[in-house]
Amino acid sequence: MQIAIDGPAGSGKTSVARALARRFGCLLINTGAMYRAVALGLSRGLKLSEIQIEIRPNERVLLNGEDVTEKLYTQEMDELASQTAAHPDVREFLIAQQRALAQNRDVVMEGRDIGSVVLPNADVKLYLDASLEERARRRCQERPGLPYAEVLAQMRARDARDGQGFGRLQITPDTIVLHTDGRTLNDVIAEAIRAVEAALQRRSSSGKLSG
Ligand code: DC
Repeated sequence: MQIAIDGPAGSGKTSVARALARRFGCLLINTGAMYRAVALGLSRGLKLSEIQIEIRPNERVLLNGEDVTEKLYTQEMDELASQTAAHPDVREFLIAQQRALAQNRDVVMEGRDIGSVVLPNADVKLYLDASLEERARRRCQERPGLPYAEVLAQMRARDARDGQGFGRLQITPDTIVLHTDGRTLNDVIAEAIRAVEAALQRRSSSGKLSG
């Protein structure tokens, strides 16, 4: 079974993906973490061909064997990863790895282009959305000490860049869109679980379940 979760920064994708992976017994693959790790590797002077990324089942991220998880979630890395992800050679490099990771496995994969490009035949595709202001507020809670106005401006710039390029943040017609403004995480997770259960039921009765 393949579950694709896309959405902009701060939409709650990671929390929902984690909950779905636990609930449905799937491997969780956070593709944003992969882009972040590549950005870190390139910033250290490595060439793309010298970079090896591993995502452990416990969500730790390894760059050429080194656990870099704690280094990936800073304002600086938000910016660097977003810029790095705009390069077609980086996308090609990671998309191939993401497809290989999902092959013959039950996965929940989250990112920007999972339902549209990486796993276009996923059994369930969800798109999480929220207003820019709400997403900036959430990011401020995750990263205490950052001024709201600064986070808002950076997120606006990232949105513009992350939405550009092939397939990124495209909502395919078979995608279920969940709006999360003003809702609790538990409420959104419950709706996501119901959406997955309904989609699985529909697809298994029509014999189209993959994986
Ligand atoms: O989800 P995130 O914020 O950790 O992602 C980091 C950056 O990587 C983000 O700016 C967009 C990019 N990204 C992407 O282009 N495609 C993906 N599938 C996942 C992330």
